[in-house]
Amino acid sequence: MTGRLNGKSILVTGAGSMGPGWGNGKAAAVLFAREGAKVLAVDLNEAAAAETVKIIREDGGQAEVFAGNVTDEASVKQMVAACVDAFGSIDVLHNNVGILKAGSPVDTTVEDWDLVMNVNTKAFFLPCKHALPHMIKQGKGSIINISSISGFRNLGAPYIAYNVSKGSAVSFTRNLAATYAANGIRANSILPGIIDTPMARDATIQNSGKPESEINFEELAKTRAARVPLRRTGTAWDIANAALFLASDESSYITGSEIYVDGGLNCVA
Ligand SMILES: NC(=O)c1ccc[n+]([C@@H]2O[C@H](COP(=O)([O-])OP(=O)(O)OC[C@H]3O[C@@H](n4cnc5c(N)ncnc54)[C@H](O)[C@@H]3O)[C@@H](O)[C@H]2O)c1
Repeated sequence: MTGRLNGKSILVTGAGSMGPGWGNGKAAAVLFAREGAKVLAVDLNEAAAAETVKIIREDGGQAEVFAGNVTDEASVKQMVAACVDAFGSIDVLHNNVGILKAGSPVDTTVEDWDLVMNVNTKAFFLPCKHALPHMIKQGKGSIINISSISGFRNLGAPYIAYNVSKGSAVSFTRNLAATYAANGIRANSILPGIIDTPMARDATIQNSGKPESEINFEELAKTRAARVPLRRTGTAWDIANAALFLASDESSYITGSEIYVDGGLNCVA
């Protein structure tokens, strides 16, 4: 531990992972704790959050599990209260939850549109709504919203509801930054590019329309990496490192910004 987040209490939503390996939220939760933060690991899937907390505790860090749903206001109120009760404050809110359904405007169903918009926009709205009053009282806070490069760039795969919802994360974040700067609260977005996570694997399966067993993931990984100026796809740790910077006081003069963590993809896509 180098202690870049010593003394900070952090609520991470989607702190588990939808499959084996490292999701962005899971890596961020683990890295935050390694740097000295106390972490409330929130996930709809309690077992996934518990796995993250187990890793943190085995590492010598401090974390608690909270089984909660970011689209349910009562649950969000409870998770924010749980963070403040357990750790005494909520210094950083890391809004990482996001879901994806493939589909162009023509073939996206109304149900999928509503589901994606509901989850992906409430994922930042509700936790902010209930964490902000605490941060205002504290006179400080850092909010990190996970957007996506695909909120602003068409990467070729059709998932319109996801694109729109992720673009809106930036609009929300800029408004937060302007509104609460005077309260000592910063808000920034991270825009991941092509990141190798269980979620990306799921998106590939959805887009291919083929069974998982028929997809050559190795070949696909090479094709995906070739599109990126830095010639590799990202990992959940690349996203976690950017989040660590935004959570720490090293970014104390940065608010209302977007950090692309995409190997330069936004310059060519
Ligand atoms: N992987 C990529 O290539 C990529 C690219 C751009 C952006 N992102 C963004 O990164 C973020 C997270 O990615 P990840 O890799 O951690 O995904 P993940 O799917 O592995 O993890 C997300 C976690 O959120 C949880 N979750 C889902 N709905 C929830 C809800 N309503 N309430 C509480 N928890 C809920 C899931 O159970 C899961 O454990 C998302 O916002 C995603 O849009 C990922």
